[in-house]
Amino acid sequence: MDYGMSNRLSRVMGPGRAVMLAVDHGYFQGPTTGLENLRRTLTPLIPYADSLMLTRGALRTSVDPEERVPIVLRVSGGTSVLKELSNETLTTSVEDAVRLNATALAVSIFVGSDNERQTLANLSGLVDEAEGCGIPVLAVTAVGREMNRDARYLALACRVAAELGARIVKTYYCEEFEKVVDACPVPVVIAGGKKLPEKEALELAEKAMAKGARGVDMGRNIFQSSDPVAMIKAVRAVVHDGVPAGEAIRIFEGGKVPPAP
Ligand code: 5RP
Repeated sequence: MDYGMSNRLSRVMGPGRAVMLAVDHGYFQGPTTGLENLRRTLTPLIPYADSLMLTRGALRTSVDPEERVPIVLRVSGGTSVLKELSNETLTTSVEDAVRLNATALAVSIFVGSDNERQTLANLSGLVDEAEGCGIPVLAVTAVGREMNRDARYLALACRVAAELGARIVKTYYCEEFEKVVDACPVPVVIAGGKKLPEKEALELAEKAMAKGARGVDMGRNIFQSSDPVAMIKAVRAVVHDGVPAGEAIRIFEGGKVPPAP
């Protein structure tokens, strides 16, 4: 592996485990709860994130160029929640990603959907170009509305992503998650999914790490928390320090800003 690729991968994955903060939701659902004012939500979280996953528009407007946090740039999209989500194209060129100093690029694939071929072509075409610049591609295995998030499906989707050249795969946690990880030759990180009570989200991270995930790429369960900074600190304790969820919840509760009298 060339130096640039190795360096970027290590910047995103850290010493082997990663807490990536996903704030790219606006690219298909507009002003998502918690991200209405992206800069306000994001700024206090940046010191605790190993990387940020977001679009170029969000990066330019809401992250100061002096920040040193690695950027995983979301480069697929082109459809909103009002239409068929799987009908994605590439929305940002590799040239612009280089200009923005992206550390990695993120693209969704919709295995099993009517747009499977198109989204897999998005991934493989992007890999061809990004690898030439030493930039790793992270594939997000999105799930079609009709798909089950079970180990059989997610293992298939993650393996396809890795075979097409993704250097990191982001997927959902499921029962028998170890089968998904075992069949995927590149690091797997999990999405948090819909907002859960904080303890349950920490348990999700704990289980995923125990079953071989290399980290989380979590969004709503952090930025929609009643205290996002306390929550990301608790998630870090689980992912980086192996703190059980039952103890990490105390980090969350201890860090909570008390309600105004
Ligand atoms: C959408 C994404 C989102 O960034 C991701 O799913 C967000 O994470 P979370 O589910 O934790 O809010 O990649 O395809």
